[in-house]
Amino acid sequence: MSATERSSTQTSQGAAASVAIERLAKSFGNVEVISDLTVSFRAGAISVLLGASGCGKTTILRCIAGLEEPSAGAIRIHDRTVFSSHERINVPPERRNLGMVFQSYAIWPHMTVYENVALPLRAHGVPSAQARPRVLEVLRLVGLEGLEQRSATQLSGGQQQRVAIARCLVNQPELVLLDEPLSNLDAKLRVGMRTELRELQRRLNATMIFVTHDQEEAMSLADDIFLFRNGHLEQSGPGEALYRRPNTRYVAEFFGKANIFEAAARDAAGADELVPVRASAIIARGSFAGRAAAGRDVACMVRPEAWRIGLPDGAGLAGRIAEITLLGDRLELQVETEIGRQCVMVLGYAPVRVGEQITLSVAPEHVHFLPGE
Ligand SMILES: Nc1ncnc2c1ncn2[C@@H]1O[C@H](COP(=O)(O)OP(=O)(O)OP(=O)(O)O)[C@@H](O)[C@H]1O
Ligand SMILES: [Mg+2]
Repeated sequence: MSATERSSTQTSQGAAASVAIERLAKSFGNVEVISDLTVSFRAGAISVLLGASGCGKTTILRCIAGLEEPSAGAIRIHDRTVFSSHERINVPPERRNLGMVFQSYAIWPHMTVYENVALPLRAHGVPSAQARPRVLEVLRLVGLEGLEQRSATQLSGGQQQRVAIARCLVNQPELVLLDEPLSNLDAKLRVGMRTELRELQRRLNATMIFVTHDQEEAMSLADDIFLFRNGHLEQSGPGEALYRRPNTRYVAEFFGKANIFEAAARDAAGADELVPVRASAIIARGSFAGRAAAGRDVACMVRPEAWRIGLPDGAGLAGRIAEITLLGDRLELQVETEIGRQCVMVLGYAPVRVGEQITLSVAPEHVHFLPGE
């Protein structure tokens, strides 16, 4: 028995997989696209991988699936080693018990929709009488009922993508890898499929690793978000933590809009006062103890919706409204100040005009200091 054979018999049945990646490296030729990556994905959760194009998201999924051989490191799926460069283990893809939807969905053009989706069941020797209700159920789930006999070439891009999702789910794998599976769907279907995927994941208690470019999709789908940058993990955690408490400027700017400037907290009677370095205005009063060292300049972030607008002669940072954009339910203002242009979001209607003088202030709890700067 080879090392590979031995390891693949150690799988535990029935439990949802968690994935642990240890010191993973992957090179193409002499270009290392992933180096020394250690990260793990929780069992029974949806983990979303985000990051700029070319940062290595697809490569990571393909390494987990066994479609790409890492240069070094180890990968464990629910404590079963599927790859280890030290132990010389490399379990083939078909024995990793996972389903994958590719970025280029890879469905078979010469088969019908039904045959494409039934393929994994046939490969596992499931009799056709048992396969049929399962295939029809996933086709209904992805909104393709009635199209079973259609040839795969006679489908739109979005329909082909749904065939790929159905095929991936038909076997109820314990680990599901999805590489931008909703990118070709129109906005409405996309939101619908998101909800369906989430319900399905909860029902199957499956572990899902999901790649997307869409921040809103990431926020609405993820239990945990993993933001990658040039093959390394920049920050991970629940979406809210990445949005409200980013570690670095890169993370702050990746999620939505961020106003970033240097400020210092100075001692005042009773409470600290936060003053931007290039201005003399006090923008917040409160306790900054433990968050910003008194007297030291630190990079801080204020989200657009956290700025409060005040009268021109009020306390705070003086500014002039340079631009107003109506975004349906909210207004986005660009406000010129001594510390540069600030993006300010106002929910609902506000009686403001371009050219008007205002002041900006912020509640202390909405000032976030960037620890990585
Ligand atoms: N087979 C290959 N041969 C050579 N280089 C490759 C190969 N596959 C990927 N790369 C390179 O590895 C890097 C990471 O690619 P990868 O496809 O993982 O990025 P990605 O994050 O999925 O990007 P996207 O968001 O555009 O899909 C890129 O620079 C890419 O050009
Ligand atoms: Mg990709």
